[in-house]
Amino acid sequence: MRSSRGPRRAANERSKADSETTVMEPDDHVCLCFRVSLRKLRNFVTREDPPVASRMADCLGAGTGCQWCVPFLKKLHQQHVDGEPMDLPVSPAEYATLRTRYRRTGERTPETAPDRDPPLTPDE
Ligand code: FES
Repeated sequence: MRSSRGPRRAANERSKADSETTVMEPDDHVCLCFRVSLRKLRNFVTREDPPVASRMADCLGAGTGCQWCVPFLKKLHQQHVDGEPMDLPVSPAEYATLRTRYRRTGERTPETAPDRDPPLTPDE
């Protein structure tokens, strides 16, 4: 369905909405190196029930590139083990920005921890 406001405006509105999102949606990539989405990881964990977090790498190589996503993969695995919904309260835009910084500096900062409370938001 096309927006009555035109495709460019609709795309801008969609982009703004994406940047304001504070949780990952199923099609957002958790592993940006290998483009592994949250949906793929959820399906993998449900199907394979990996006994340890490191087996998350068996899902399309997730976590075997720059390793930025490893703490987030561990969090998802722990949520599965604990019987909780597998969610990441992270803005996808901020997640990508922090990953770029991590790749440049090689350092993680406290605000990039997956268990950070409150969750990452674009304004931070
Ligand atoms: S983002 Fe997952 S290995 Fe780089």
